[in-house]
Amino acid sequence: MNKILTLSAAEQAEYAKQHMLAAAEDIEGALLRLMPQADGMEEQVMAAMRYALMAGGKRIRPFLVLCSASLFGVDRDFALRVAAAVECAHTYSLVHDDLPCMDDADLRRGKPSLHKKFDEATAVLAGDALLTLCFEILASPETHADPKVRCELMASLSRALGAQGMVGGQMIDLLAEERSLNEGEIIRLQRLKTGALIAFSAEAGAIMGKAADVSRQALHGYAHDLGLAFQIVDDLLDVEGDSAALGKTAGRDAVAGKATLVSLLGVERARLQTDMLIEQAEKHLDIFDDQADILRAVLQFVITRAH
Ligand code: IPE
Ligand code: IPE
Ligand code: MG
Ligand code: MG
Ligand code: MG
Repeated sequence: MNKILTLSAAEQAEYAKQHMLAAAEDIEGALLRLMPQADGMEEQVMAAMRYALMAGGKRIRPFLVLCSASLFGVDRDFALRVAAAVECAHTYSLVHDDLPCMDDADLRRGKPSLHKKFDEATAVLAGDALLTLCFEILASPETHADPKVRCELMASLSRALGAQGMVGGQMIDLLAEERSLNEGEIIRLQRLKTGALIAFSAEAGAIMGKAADVSRQALHGYAHDLGLAFQIVDDLLDVEGDSAALGKTAGRDAVAGKATLVSLLGVERARLQTDMLIEQAEKHLDIFDDQADILRAVLQFVITRAH
């Protein structure tokens, strides 16, 4: 049996949380170093980018990048840059997700959302600039010595973020406010809007480390299930959680008429789905043996998290 599995679920979740907190410091250091600065009037958009990025956040996606990179012996400085790029892309998705034309959310990461703190146009521009900065980081030779690896990172991340990934999922999410989706359709929407970026994050280390296909596929399978579980828990927390702990206003999904597994199946059955997904995700890690213990612990963190 893997060492980590001798701990209780709560101990595993705590183990993951402590590792994530320590890594968050390094990730935030990398983000600060990569943020553009200027003296001219364009500084406003840069201040907005920093506001959104440095407001906290669990940093789970960049953490997955670091975990997968360490499985393949990738240089930590390279991995930190890819981790920071992923967090820029994720933060862009949150800034746009909160806009009045999308989810119209006033609170994000415990603070006024970006368009409330600044204004809508600045929020649109800051989101755009975070997304483009993400690709600027990946394109740099400081991210990886091999240009083929850099291209592969950019191609994979583009697919995960674009119309066949996150953006596509967000489109369906908005359209579904006016239609009813069945279980399969909701799962597809969630895999696109949330699962695709999480899957890229877990695979990124394998791309950087030029790992064998079998390893990459195992990480993809793991993150495919983890990503869906992550969004179902987000939806459960919207129903059961409290705004102060969440750092975002609870209860918004029902008001907006969002299509979620919680609204379709109810809290109990949605919770059972997350348990099943976590079990399934863990099986994909067998090939890595004890080296993947931290990725096993992340699964427990995700299903027990309160924010
Ligand atoms: C929120 O993501 C958006 C979803 C895809 C559910 P997180 O819960 O990872 O948000 P932060 O980064 O910790 O704020
Ligand atoms: C957002 O899902 C997924 C993204 C791609 C940003 P939600 O709309 O449920 O995320 P929160 O609850 O606002 O963080
Ligand atoms: Mg949304
Ligand atoms: Mg939202
Ligand atoms: Mg949500």
